[in-house]
Amino acid sequence: MSLSGLFLISFLLVHLGVNITMIWSKDLFNAASHFMETNWIIQSMQWILAIGFIVHIVYGIILTIQNRRARGVQYAVKKGGSAPLSSRTMIHSGILILLFILLHLRDFLVPMKLGLVDDNYELVAAKFSNPVFVIIYIVAFILLGLHLSHGFQSAFQSSGAAHSKYTPIIKGLGKAYFLLMSLGFTAIAVVMYFRSLT
Ligand code: HEM
Repeated sequence: MSLSGLFLISFLLVHLGVNITMIWSKDLFNAASHFMETNWIIQSMQWILAIGFIVHIVYGIILTIQNRRARGVQYAVKKGGSAPLSSRTMIHSGILILLFILLHLRDFLVPMKLGLVDDNYELVAAKFSNPVFVIIYIVAFILLGLHLSHGFQSAFQSSGAAHSKYTPIIKGLGKAYFLLMSLGFTAIAVVMYFRSLT
């Protein structure tokens, strides 16, 4: 669970890095996007990414079922105990993010793979000119932030990579990471929307 999570964390960092270039330059984004589409190492990584997602989802479901069974009566003492909201809602935010990803792949990856897109930037620009689309995306980015705010720290702890001495550093990095992801992706959606109005 944690290894697949760490892999997905790295994917998002690269994905944000490629996509944020569209804020500055259409050509830079198209060049970066073309490189991602044609480089065989990246293309092979996509299969590993797909497997990473599947492993992460399957383990997430198994873990939730096991936790609920182990707890017996759900939240018997106090609803949710003292655990933060992000950790108690991992399965819910995870399912909603999965729905977002399916929608996202249908809108971007599928037309690109089918060769229906001449200009990747124009495809993204056309999608983000729709305010409903932008709102759905921003809601997904907030959920992603919620999921990552717990997931990042938890991935380090359960993979055994963390010593308690490093907990504050990992917590700090986790916060920086989830803020970077949610705000970075939101910035792209908002900039592209306002650009479509001019
Ligand atoms: C403003 C935000 C985003 C934009 C503009 C965007 C754009 C794109 C585009 C154009 C593609 C097609 C292929 C490529 O260029 O890689 C893609 C693929 C993909 N996106 Fe996003 N994306 C955004 C946010 C996200 C988020 C938040 C996630 C995950 C939660 C995500 C997950 C994926 C996945 C799994 C793929 C397929 C793998 C790949 O092609 O690399 N994207 N995205």
